[in-house]
Amino acid sequence: MSPFPLTRTLPEDATDAALRSDVLRGLTHTPRTLPPKWFYDAHGSDLFEQITELPEYYPTRAEREILLARAPEIAAATGARTLVELGSGSSDKTRHLLDAMPDLHTYVPVDVSESALRQAGEALIAERSGLHVHALIADFTAALTLPDTPVPRLVAFLGGTVGNLLPAERAGFLDSVRALMSPGDALLLGTDLVKDASVLVAAYDDAAGVTAEFNKNVLTVVNRELGADFDLDAFGHVALWDAENEWIEMRLRSRRAQTVKIPAVDLAVDFAAGEDLRTEVSAKFREDGVRGELAAAGLKLTHWWTDREARFALSLSMAR
Ligand code: SAH
Ligand code: TRP
Repeated sequence: MSPFPLTRTLPEDATDAALRSDVLRGLTHTPRTLPPKWFYDAHGSDLFEQITELPEYYPTRAEREILLARAPEIAAATGARTLVELGSGSSDKTRHLLDAMPDLHTYVPVDVSESALRQAGEALIAERSGLHVHALIADFTAALTLPDTPVPRLVAFLGGTVGNLLPAERAGFLDSVRALMSPGDALLLGTDLVKDASVLVAAYDDAAGVTAEFNKNVLTVVNRELGADFDLDAFGHVALWDAENEWIEMRLRSRRAQTVKIPAVDLAVDFAAGEDLRTEVSAKFREDGVRGELAAAGLKLTHWWTDREARFALSLSMAR
């Protein structure tokens, strides 16, 4: 039992069906791909929290710096009574926002990771008497139905997670976020910024190997859920900067020629030596690009804040 409402918007077996179809589609095409939401089982969510503390992984610290400095302005500009957070994870940085919003009625964390939602929700209701928490186990790329809570709403999407969507997916996603909003509601969006390639690559290929373990966790998930026999030691972690698309690409590179069996979808996948499986992109942004993508979705950018070193940006935009 959960001490706060925890709504599953998909039937239990939908996850399984979605994983099967993603694996079938992604592994039967070249280049081979797997969508990033499958990183985040309980172990993956823990590994991501470790990533946020790595010396090389600056985005979390940079975004925290902005939130600490700007939370009062965000609260004043939005007057929000409901905070909806997409991909909320541990909700750790969100505390700085909550601290600045004494009139907030309900916090609605939305995540695919049930373990992350439970931990974060339990901690928050213990810390803040009076705050309502209504968590949604949901895929934010699918149609969301929000609980009926007081307006105006602030929708937060932090961590640069929007960069994990491909440009076409991003446009559709921003349209669907806009569709959830009414005039007067606001979107707070965290975007990592284009910078020196060496800094970017290090953030996704840390010396301690935590990111490599995180990247390979998607193979562990497929092994466990679909009975596959991926040998984690037979794949290497690769992070590379694509200067044309301005994104970091995360891959798993097959160290040798090998065949992987995935019984639940009746598939045998041949990997050549050196063949890559793309697991994630993490796009990096510029102010004009963010403004344009928001405008295309019917959102007007009203504030743009960066950390002192201008590594990361938070933008606030309004539904018209
Ligand atoms: N907001 C946190 C966590 C970012 S990591 C931070 O800024 O540190 C990305 C989070 O999004 C993870 O918690 C992951 O479980 C969640 N996530 C990834 N893809 C998702 C999807 N399609 N639908 C819902 N949640 C998703
Ligand atoms: N949203 C995070 C980002 O793009 C997710 C992330 C960080 C990630 N490190 C990663 C995803 C390594 C896959 C592999 O920065």
